[in-house]
Amino acid sequence: MTKATKRAALACAVAAALGLALYFNGSTAADEVADNQVTAAATLAADPAAVARGAYVSIQGDCAACHTVPGGRAFAGGYGLQTPFGVIYSTNITPDIKTGIGNWTERDFFRAVRHGRHKNGQLLYPAMPYNAYVKISDADMHDLWAYMRTLQPVEQSPSHNTLGFPYNIRHALWGWNLLFFDNAPFVTQPAQSAAWNRGRYLVDGPGHCAACHTPKNFLGGDTGRYLQGAELLGSYAPEITADPYRGLGSWSREQLQTYLRTGANHQAIASGAMGEAIEFSTQHLNDQDLAAIAEYLKSVPGSNSIKPQAMATTEPVMRRGAQVYEQNCMACHNVAGEGIAGMVTGFADNPGIRTPSGSNLVAAILKGSKAVTTSGNVTGAGMPSFDWKLGDADIAAVLTYVRNSWGNAASQITPEQVATARRTLDAKPQMLRHF
Ligand code: HEC
Ligand code: HEC
Ligand code: HEC
Repeated sequence: MTKATKRAALACAVAAALGLALYFNGSTAADEVADNQVTAAATLAADPAAVARGAYVSIQGDCAACHTVPGGRAFAGGYGLQTPFGVIYSTNITPDIKTGIGNWTERDFFRAVRHGRHKNGQLLYPAMPYNAYVKISDADMHDLWAYMRTLQPVEQSPSHNTLGFPYNIRHALWGWNLLFFDNAPFVTQPAQSAAWNRGRYLVDGPGHCAACHTPKNFLGGDTGRYLQGAELLGSYAPEITADPYRGLGSWSREQLQTYLRTGANHQAIASGAMGEAIEFSTQHLNDQDLAAIAEYLKSVPGSNSIKPQAMATTEPVMRRGAQVYEQNCMACHNVAGEGIAGMVTGFADNPGIRTPSGSNLVAAILKGSKAVTTSGNVTGAGMPSFDWKLGDADIAAVLTYVRNSWGNAASQITPEQVATARRTLDAKPQMLRHF
């Protein structure tokens, strides 16, 4: 190496180190707006208006859903999140001194929520969606803290994570943050309306919609295909951009709001992960905020998917699918896939039916599912499981049929795909008749 290149290399290394130092110190500078004296457990007169606003922020952020075991004490943690890397358990965030965040200050709290750092400086797993919460405003964070301090302290120690090597090494998250953590606050776009900006704030910040709806790379970081649909374990979060074919282009703003408020609309019925997001979060949002989310999502450019050609009804697999449909599905999903608004999924011209891999449909038919119940839609109908009843070829045929009828066109589902899903989803084998 010549002297000049050596010097250049050294300069690069120093610049990189400086950049990193700035990156990390700069990252938490914003948290200095928070108090660093009073702990969560300390007695302090609460401002009821701030507490009420903070409760609403926690609903936007869906904090309780992840930090509460179903049927367990609120915010006491222990809920296991299934990730491709293993199970990560949420922590106790009640103001209990021994097992919760009782001895944390507001600044510690800001750092954890917006920058993914424990009080002791350890990095948190991005299963806690700090990469979205970094967009939460200072004002909302102050209110959220005011609310958190009023929670009932619960003594409950956290469960241990079951991550395999190398994912169990928290230091590795340093690299993850460097690659995938967009450490920047929310910036209002003055050219857009107030409603649009509010919608974007809710979607990208507290609502953390991208956590499920943006496809991930092999390290669990967001790809550039913003809100264009992502495989989850055993289900699929569809594209929610304005794309006319795969996204929400065909839904009106009102239909979108109805879905987020009640869990169902003219064609879609929410269940699973979205059912939970609706149950604990979006059904409680006020109408103005729901309208803002719709305003924003309807402006997000989509994957620009080209509508494929639907399979011909004369294809043998389509004929077989039509037969299976008539015998097993028509009673509920109706003659021409209309479904029943607010109760049974309508297949006709439904973007949720033409997802790229169809994994969500295979899971629903094998394991069945239960629609979410909300105060706006108390029916909560059920989709029976067909794993015991139908073989792989029949399931593949009926789903291929549904995906290529009534205005839909999408790739074929293969019997092999169904067989694999049967194994990975731990579904029952088909019950064979021996007569
Ligand atoms: C998608 C699930 C999920 C949501 C939603 C979520 N959290 Fe978390 N949170 C976690 C997990 C998992 C951890 C533990 C991460 C780890 O161990 O590295 C965590 C950790 C934390 C911590 C650090 C506590 C500690 O002892 O280290 C705080 C504080 C926290 N969350 C607050 C919140 C707040 C406030 C909200 C709502 C604005 C929220 N969380 C929403 C999953 C979630
Ligand atoms: C925990 C994961 C998760 C989060 C967070 C989440 N979603 Fe979803 N979403 C899903 C899944 C899974 C589905 C498919 C539901 C089904 O088929 O019943 C879905 C479906 C939807 C649909 C219906 C799409 C269609 O074509 O049928 C809309 C609209 C939607 N989500 C909007 C949102 C918005 C807005 C947010 C943020 C406020 C959000 N989601 C947050 C997982 C999630
Ligand atoms: C007893 C009534 C009933 C029958 C019979 C039935 N379904 Fe359903 N199905 C429902 C209901 C209700 C829902 C919505 C609830 C939910 O998603 O949990 C649903 C949802 C679905 C979904 C989920 C759509 C999505 O967006 O994720 C698929 C796929 C589906 N049904 C396919 C079928 C097929 C194929 C058949 C026939 C083999 C069938 N269903 C038979 C009631 C039924």
